[in-house]
Amino acid sequence: MSQKESAGTLLRSDAAASEALVRDLFEPTVRIGIAPVRDELADLSAAERALVEGAVRTRKNEFATGRRLAHRLLAELGVAAGPILRDADRVPIWPEGIVGSISHSRTLAVAALARAAHGSGIGIDIEPDVAVRDGVERVVCTPFEQTWLDSAPSITPSDPDPRSDRARWVKLFFSAKESVYKAFFPRIRVFWGFHEVELEIDPVAGRFDASLPASADRQRITGRFARKDGVIVSGVLVD
Ligand SMILES: CC(C)(COP(=O)(O)OP(=O)(O)OC[C@H]1O[C@@H](n2cnc3c(N)ncnc32)[C@H](O)[C@@H]1OP(=O)(O)O)[C@@H](O)C(=O)NCCC(=O)NCCS
Repeated sequence: MSQKESAGTLLRSDAAASEALVRDLFEPTVRIGIAPVRDELADLSAAERALVEGAVRTRKNEFATGRRLAHRLLAELGVAAGPILRDADRVPIWPEGIVGSISHSRTLAVAALARAAHGSGIGIDIEPDVAVRDGVERVVCTPFEQTWLDSAPSITPSDPDPRSDRARWVKLFFSAKESVYKAFFPRIRVFWGFHEVELEIDPVAGRFDASLPASADRQRITGRFARKDGVIVSGVLVD
C-alpha cells in the first residue's frame, strides 16, 4: 500500500476478526491468509531475507509476514516450494502452476494463492480505512467515479462531516484499483494509470465492476471488497 497509515489507526490485529474480514473475498478455490505484521524474518530462508537486507525494520517485517503467509498457503495447496523470490518488477515468483498476490500495511499482511487451473491472476490489496488527503480524489477517480461519490452512501452516519466519508470512499477506489492492477500486471506487464481503470461500486454487495484498458485480454472484471474495524481489503480473481 502506498499511503501508509499513521500509528494506531489500524484497529484490529485479532486473528479471528481479521480472518472474518477476508473470508468472502474470493471463491473457495483461492486460499487466503491474513496476519498481524511481526518480526518473523528468522522464519524465512536466507535467499528471502537477502531481498530486504538493506530495508528499514517495518519493511522487513511486512515482507517477512507476507512471505510467511504465502508459504503457509503453498503448504495448504500441497505445493513444495523453495524461497519465494521476486523478479525485476518486484512481482513474486510463484512455483510453477500457482498464481498469487501479497499486500501489507504496517500492521496487517495478507496473501491469496490458487492453482493456475482456477485463475490466470490474483490481486489483493489491504489499506487502512482512513480518509485520503486532499487532492488524491482527482488522481485516483475518473469524472464518472467522482459523480458517483457525489451521492455515495454514508459510511459513518454519526459523522457530521460528509467529506470524511467521501475521502474514505476514495480510499476504497484506490484499494480496488490496486487489486485490479496486481491481478493483471504479472501476466501482461503493462503499467496502468488510475484513470485507465474505471469502477462501478456496489456498496451493499461489497463488489466492484472494473472496466479495463485495451491492454487487458478482457473488457471488464468483477472484484470484491470488505471494510471492517478500520481496514479495507479488495480482491480480484482473473478466471
Ligand atoms: C504494484 C503496486 C500496486 C503494489 O502496491 P504497494 O503499494 O507497493 O503495496 P502492497 O503492500 O499492496 O503490495 C506490495 C506487494 O505487491 C507485490 N507486487 C509488487 N509489485 C507488483 C506488481 N507490479 N504486480 C503485482 N504484484 C506486485 C509484492 O508481493 C509486494 O510485496 P513484497 O515486496 O513484500 O513481496 C504499486 O506499487 C504500484 O506500482 N502501483 C502503481 C500502479 C497502480 O497502482 N495502478 C492502479 C491503476 S489500475
